[in-house]
Amino acid sequence: MKKTLSVVLSLCASAMMAQTVSMDVNVAKKGIDVSPRLTGLFLEDINHAIDGGFYAELIRNRSFDEGTSYWQTKGFFSASATISTESEDLVNTVQQNAMKVVFSNCDSTHLAGVYNTGWWGMRVEKGDTMTASLLAKRVGSYSGKLTVAVTNSTSRIYGTAVLTDTLTGEWARYTVKIPLNKMVAQYDNSARFIIKSSGNGTVLMDMVSLFPPTFCGTANGVRRDLGELLADIHPSFLRFPGGCFVEGVDLANRFQWKNTIGPVENRKSHTNVWNYESLNGFGYHDYLQLAEDLNAEPLFVVNVGISHSDYLEYNKIDDYVQDAVDALEYANGDTTTTYGRMRAANGHPEPFNLKMIEIGNENNQFDTSYRSKDYSKRFKQFKAAILAKYPDTEVIGDVDMWCADDCRNSWYQNNTENCTTDYLDEHYYHNPGWFAQRFNKYDNYDRSQKIFCGEYACTSECGNGNLNAALGEAIFRLGMENNSDVVRMSCFAPTFRNVNADNNWNYDMIHFNNSSSYCSPSYYVQQLCGSNTGTETVENSISGNVEIETSPSYVGLGTWLTAADFDDLHVVDNSDVDIVNDDMSTNKGWNYGSGTWRVTNGMLNQSLASQEGATAIYPTKLTSNNYTLTVKCRKNSGNEGFLIIFDYKDSQNYSWLNLGGWGNTQHAIEQCVNGAKVTVATTSGSLTTGSWYTVKIVVNGFSVKCYLNDKLLFNGTLSGSNNVYANATYTPDAKQLYVKVVNPTSGKASFGVNVKSGESVSNASLTVLTGENSDSENSMDAPKTVYPRQKSATVSDGKVTFDLLPYSFNILKITLGTADAMNEVNADAIQDNVEASNLGVYNANGIRLDDDISCLPHGFYIINGKKTIK
Ligand code: AHR
Repeated sequence: MKKTLSVVLSLCASAMMAQTVSMDVNVAKKGIDVSPRLTGLFLEDINHAIDGGFYAELIRNRSFDEGTSYWQTKGFFSASATISTESEDLVNTVQQNAMKVVFSNCDSTHLAGVYNTGWWGMRVEKGDTMTASLLAKRVGSYSGKLTVAVTNSTSRIYGTAVLTDTLTGEWARYTVKIPLNKMVAQYDNSARFIIKSSGNGTVLMDMVSLFPPTFCGTANGVRRDLGELLADIHPSFLRFPGGCFVEGVDLANRFQWKNTIGPVENRKSHTNVWNYESLNGFGYHDYLQLAEDLNAEPLFVVNVGISHSDYLEYNKIDDYVQDAVDALEYANGDTTTTYGRMRAANGHPEPFNLKMIEIGNENNQFDTSYRSKDYSKRFKQFKAAILAKYPDTEVIGDVDMWCADDCRNSWYQNNTENCTTDYLDEHYYHNPGWFAQRFNKYDNYDRSQKIFCGEYACTSECGNGNLNAALGEAIFRLGMENNSDVVRMSCFAPTFRNVNADNNWNYDMIHFNNSSSYCSPSYYVQQLCGSNTGTETVENSISGNVEIETSPSYVGLGTWLTAADFDDLHVVDNSDVDIVNDDMSTNKGWNYGSGTWRVTNGMLNQSLASQEGATAIYPTKLTSNNYTLTVKCRKNSGNEGFLIIFDYKDSQNYSWLNLGGWGNTQHAIEQCVNGAKVTVATTSGSLTTGSWYTVKIVVNGFSVKCYLNDKLLFNGTLSGSNNVYANATYTPDAKQLYVKVVNPTSGKASFGVNVKSGESVSNASLTVLTGENSDSENSMDAPKTVYPRQKSATVSDGKVTFDLLPYSFNILKITLGTADAMNEVNADAIQDNVEASNLGVYNANGIRLDDDISCLPHGFYIINGKKTIK
């Protein structure tokens, strides 16, 4: 890669020349096996993700914990119903309330009822059969028939069913199916669910429920549309149920799996860490079932006796350890065991095969007083107890949260018990530039300690999750693929945001309301990588560069915790023509940032010595990438020194020479790309207060020479903001080559792939995720602003070529060595975005080889004897 990068950089200097990027791939030279678990999912109840959201229950306040809120009455003619809260005669001790309904003046033609309008509206769809149920009993002499109906907002009936005409004096559950009729046009987002009576008297009701068909038809399951979005990622595992959610705001309100299984009326709710009530109708068993429905391995995170505000001493956590062992018995034990029997009673006699347990969430900080007390001692107890009973379990350990590059070291620093772990769970929330600069992060990791990147996402300088964020994450992901001998698993976080509710976190993959959803560009990166990664990496090298426009930049001056004077700023181009010539006799229009700046006594002065990062930018835009800057500087007071700013594009993208940094111990070149600052070169050195220094910086594209008092300090290279990041993975059995390319820049190029190992290219398809700008986002109104689209790739002389668009993530899928799979491809007649139907791949004898035409490039094909355009 280093070699590739240097080729890229040397070509950058002459900006307008280079427009071709090429990748040579040799599929005969295998790299590493790509972990089959690399793509996963993380689910946590955050942003009101579950109740009133992903969990498909349509009734709001079904157990009347909120009194009679969200319930209303309706009487037909003189028939009426009145409602109140009953807190005495309840179903069980878990329930706090039931609803008491008193029906009057009702008969078989004059009914009265109670109805619910859902969480933020109630969506029903044409052709669906709903499942309605409730617990009910009569009080005293009630007699009559209870019917339930789904209606529109003006009581037009979409479907109805008799619940019972023999209500007894004991609590009992009544369940009916309600097929929806033709009155539902396509869907209705404002439907109602009504329970009506033909008799008079008093009825108690609790746990009133209405489910549409769910994802995979699972009882007590999740929304179909959202479940399908998750399935489209092809997750290999599901990490649940958190996150901080596992820890709880305090231990009393942590997630306790035993409170979340079995009949829903027996489940206890709790106030979750994100400050709302989790009703736990969707609980431990349901998460395991969801994992099974998604064909993903479950990965359960357990509480280690630490919450966000309290903890138990490590030698008092036996119950917590036992809970984890019991959770494994529930998931895996045979049906003669206590918890295995419960699982069977709850509808799943077969084991769920839970093999991965994460011991705590973010409970191993460098600062051990913060949510991390005695982590090693806790980990040791959990691991010993779990492996004693379930030796095949893989345990996952925590490291420092939200960490920088050294987060693993908290494990080593705090490992008082010399524990070993199958995986360390790293969490990264940073800006897009941080991720983009971490393509090679894992190249130098020790290969023996396996990593689970259990939470990562851009969370700053990326709108609410824009294209730039997705491209940064894509670059990071490609690096993980290249290193998936170490990074065995990864998942984005968080997954869901319910836009109807107060949200806790803006940067989520899937945003939904009661009826629709849209995905962030980050979702599509996960989805595209989940289904377009080969089983092994293969040797590849890249040369060339994207075409960049000469981006205008500025120069400037600054200080860090220092007061200083500056004088005689000159910038000349390569022909010695003055671009800037400021003797500081008057203020030429400097743009002052923080600090206290003024032009005085023939100098530019910054007098606030307590200010970090005080900056002043010269107003003239440079027109060339090749220039020499000189300036004189004097430190007047303070702890550090000067910042000589060059290549300044905006406050997020610039470089500076930092003289006297790090407490006046070092000089350095630092470069900030999209808000992420890295040190390009450093050397020890200091400044003397009161002395004048002459600084010279010679910039030639990405190469920079810095001089202090005419002595060369640095001959450095900036990282190009125009790098293209790519990798190649291959599935030999299917002869499928996947070349993934990220272009995070505004530049463009032609990208060519040469297969150097001798195989012919049978066909190639290209999928591109891009948008108009790097800050393009999706929304409920415009969900496909940034969306994967099929584009054309040309196959010619064994080389595959396509247009590498600005700000794009490109997936090129190439099938090798089955040249007779198509009769004809005419790459000249390519048409973009033409939908195809009933196509297939046929060999020369007309035998259908494959129904899947997604692997074909756009062009002409002979299909069923006819020339067809795809
Ligand atoms: O993903 C959101 C939160 O970020 C998770 O709950 C937690 O693990 C992390 O701090």
